[in-house]
Amino acid sequence: MMLWMSRLPSPPSCFEEVVEARLLDMDGVTFSWEEVGGEKFLVLYASQPMDVALEGFPKPMWEEMPPGWETRYREYFMGFPWGSRLFIHPPWEKGNPSRINVMINPGLGFGTGTHSTTRLCLSFLEEVVRRERPEVVLDVGTGSGILAIAAVKLGVPRAVAIDIDQEALENARENLVLNGVQERVVLVAGDPRALKGRFPLVLANLHFYAFLKVSKDLARLTSPGGHLIISGFLAKDGPVMADEMSSVGFREVEGESLMGWGGSLFVRG
Ligand SMILES: C[S@@+](CC[C@H](N)C(=O)[O-])C[C@H]1O[C@@H](n2cnc3c(N)ncnc32)[C@H](O)[C@@H]1O
Repeated sequence: MMLWMSRLPSPPSCFEEVVEARLLDMDGVTFSWEEVGGEKFLVLYASQPMDVALEGFPKPMWEEMPPGWETRYREYFMGFPWGSRLFIHPPWEKGNPSRINVMINPGLGFGTGTHSTTRLCLSFLEEVVRRERPEVVLDVGTGSGILAIAAVKLGVPRAVAIDIDQEALENARENLVLNGVQERVVLVAGDPRALKGRFPLVLANLHFYAFLKVSKDLARLTSPGGHLIISGFLAKDGPVMADEMSSVGFREVEGESLMGWGGSLFVRG
């Protein structure tokens, strides 16, 4: 696969969460933040050069990633245990025979398990699955598919995983097959507004502004007495998220933070 990269100097007054919210709404682009010599950069990746207009940032100048980029990033993604049962690892590393292995091939879908927001969701997921034994989960914003895959490997019989980004869905499809769970997870292209039904457990690792758009749908899709696990917002915004979710019928039962990110577990009234 060809990959293009553009490194943009970040303006001093940059509010990262707003930039991330804009980028997460765009198709075909993924990003990371880098710090070099005390200066911060926003690094964009895309499968072809594209126009990305971000306030305060210069227009991207795209360069093709040199041959071998696929193998170079392997140095940065290593297998790691998470919680009391999971082990997340890339396909080029062996799993851990004493744990439940989730194999993730990194692609354009967010979710190698290295980000704190994914980890917060995984911790709550392990706890809720053990206690509640849900028959099915809904994973909103599945990215690489990591949460849906972890859910079924932890013992949930079935999952529905939805994403608005086609490239994320392709990555998720590949990861379902790698984990042999493609028969148990249904992938849906789109936004939760398009979904019908009720789920005893809903997972959503989305950015702050996406939650404001879909909170009513998350409530509609969660069974009464069912659970909602969310992350993707800054820990300092936890109280605002809790208020938003309680306004649509959820009660927060646990809130956690990791490296400045927030995660919460709610019950639907
Ligand atoms: C932060 S990633 C989470 C990926 C993975 N679930 C994890 O926990 O690592 C958020 C994902 O949500 C998707 N997304 C954003 N807004 C969405 C929406 N309204 N409906 C469905 N997916 C959405 C993005 O395309 C992205 O793949």
